[in-house]
Amino acid sequence: MAEFNEKTTVRDLAAKYSQVRPVFERYGIDYCCGGLHDLETAAAEKGVGVEMLIEALGDAIKSPVSGQAQRDWSKSNVTDLADHIEKRHHTFMKEQLPRLAGLMATVLEAHGARHGDMLKSLKGVFESLRSEIEQHLMKEEQILFPYIRRIDEYAIEGGDAPEAHCGTVQNPIRQMEYEHDNAGRALAKMRELTSNYTLPGDACNTFRALYDGLKALEGDLHEHIHLENNILFPKAVETEKKLTRKDE
Ligand SMILES: [Fe+2]
Ligand SMILES: [Fe+2]
Repeated sequence: MAEFNEKTTVRDLAAKYSQVRPVFERYGIDYCCGGLHDLETAAAEKGVGVEMLIEALGDAIKSPVSGQAQRDWSKSNVTDLADHIEKRHHTFMKEQLPRLAGLMATVLEAHGARHGDMLKSLKGVFESLRSEIEQHLMKEEQILFPYIRRIDEYAIEGGDAPEAHCGTVQNPIRQMEYEHDNAGRALAKMRELTSNYTLPGDACNTFRALYDGLKALEGDLHEHIHLENNILFPKAVETEKKLTRKDE
């Protein structure tokens, strides 16, 4: 049986057991950007009884997990994890962001007369999220992830010490975490604007596809940010620290 209690942090539990993430989502507990709280604090913030939360988390941990979720990324090396994030989550974003922008334009045109105010606000939040994420993925793919792979390679094989162009890996990580927080706020704002993605009575299938797509984007981005903030980045910082000690 899983060992955890009210002092366990949200982040540690979400990193160890992927099955608990839907429980956190159900209670509105942020496990990707604000995961440093312990369960007691997180429950109190959301007005949820900590015993009830712990019971729901325990039940989720006992339930079987499927497919990709079965892999415990906290046990893998940073290179494999960076590869997985790029292949699965960056690709997902690059496919979905333009698709959703197209759906958004169609829905605004068809439903602007009755739902124009809400849809225009939604489009504004989505567009700034899109442009920030597109830049963000590029920075991770071109600068941060290659450096993380190099420190991993050096830790395993030795050779030439990798050169950090930005002081320490903590500097770009801090910037990425700041951008993750912004993305988390944009997702929450879109949920609020759409009343938790509740379709209006006159919604057409494109409207439905837009809301389904935005919900899928939210779920994927939460998982993506969780893997980076809670597993990849702390491991990269730890690996870099070991190298500094090795060089001394
Ligand atoms: Fe990423
Ligand atoms: Fe990121």
